[in-house]
Amino acid sequence: MRIILYLGKGGVGKTTVSASTATAIARSGKRVLIMSTDVAHSLADALGAELSSTPLEVEKNLFAMEVNVLAEIRENWTELYSYFSSILMHDGANEIVAEELAIVPGMEEMISLRYIWKAAKSGSYDAVVVDAAPTGETMRLLGMPESYGWYSEKIGGWHAKAIGFAAPLLSKFMPKKNIFKLMPEINEHMKELHGMLQDQSITTFRVVLNPENMVIKEALRVQTYLNLFGYKLDAAVVNKVLPASSNDQYLQSLIDMQAKYLRVIENCFYPVPIFRAKQSSKEVIAPDRLFELSQEIFNGKNPIDVLYSNAKTQTLEKINGKYVLSLYLPNVEVEKLAVNIKGDELLVDINNFRKSIILPNVLVGRKTEGADFEQGTLNITFTN
Ligand SMILES: Nc1ncnc2c1ncn2[C@@H]1O[C@H](COP(=O)(O)OP(=O)(O)OP(=O)(O)O)[C@@H](O)[C@H]1O
Ligand SMILES: [Mg+2]
Repeated sequence: MRIILYLGKGGVGKTTVSASTATAIARSGKRVLIMSTDVAHSLADALGAELSSTPLEVEKNLFAMEVNVLAEIRENWTELYSYFSSILMHDGANEIVAEELAIVPGMEEMISLRYIWKAAKSGSYDAVVVDAAPTGETMRLLGMPESYGWYSEKIGGWHAKAIGFAAPLLSKFMPKKNIFKLMPEINEHMKELHGMLQDQSITTFRVVLNPENMVIKEALRVQTYLNLFGYKLDAAVVNKVLPASSNDQYLQSLIDMQAKYLRVIENCFYPVPIFRAKQSSKEVIAPDRLFELSQEIFNGKNPIDVLYSNAKTQTLEKINGKYVLSLYLPNVEVEKLAVNIKGDELLVDINNFRKSIILPNVLVGRKTEGADFEQGTLNITFTN
């Protein structure tokens, strides 16, 4: 069983590449479920099918669903939801505002994750492909399994306080069944899912990007955060690549700019493999076109496979009270090495190859104290 998650900035082609991957897997004879956890769904448009939160077999072996988190909260989590909205209404918020606010932070992520967990555990699929929301939201989603214990404790704590201080006032709003009893059970599921997400033989993270400056930065941020959570990237898919050359001057200048950024991508993601998809002049919708695109991207490889293992690209550790960022750069001979920080970016120049990394928040504003290169790993120490 494999879980494949595509991440990246808004509009880069996550839905298209996810749907394309799922179609290729289905046509290789494996049962696959593609699931969209994005609130703004477009998976249905990409597949040309009407989707709901029940998996639909779009074609043989290809199942698709769109998780509607808000509807899910209303239907299945009414107790928790109405409990919080009553507290808020009691505090003077109007009903609609209270309903909006009652969606406890983290709840949407938790529900999406439970869907992934359920699909992965169902035994019905060989692969679950997740078409996720743009980076920020998805990073919250992926950080959730680790922080869930803290999260449920916080909600539990809030609950206990509410009972302690305002029992008489709140008693009429209290949920009948103790929904807080559910928390430990969900905690177990989250722990299990966390283990699955960290297991490279089960879960594969891929980033989708375009050859554009801002998009690359966001993709690097994805890589940094994945590494921090202990998740590994096994491929980068560069989508919307223009043809090699053109007679049109305007188009040629765009092509030249892309060529520059394609080189940046090659350096920055090394040693993770990079796959490319051309900007198509036709819309990429419905399974046949999506399948064609998958052939172009994966070029003979089956996207259900782990495309790169040992993708230990970055690690951050605290050694003797100091942060040490380690970058894995196999097969690199270091003659000249320079490390510079520019804002939240770390620029590493090795010989005439430049790699840039987006620093995790904890390192922003710190200076580097030293860098050494040992057994294919560059270790950078930061000041306190
Ligand atoms: N290789 C391609 N050639 C041409 N059009 C493409 C290609 N890839 C994606 N598109 C189009 O670009 C638009 C955005 O793609 P898509 O919806 O897959 O991106 P996304 O990253 O999922 O966006 P969002 O962040 O909004 O979910 C869509 O209209 C899609 O059809
Ligand atoms: Mg999308």
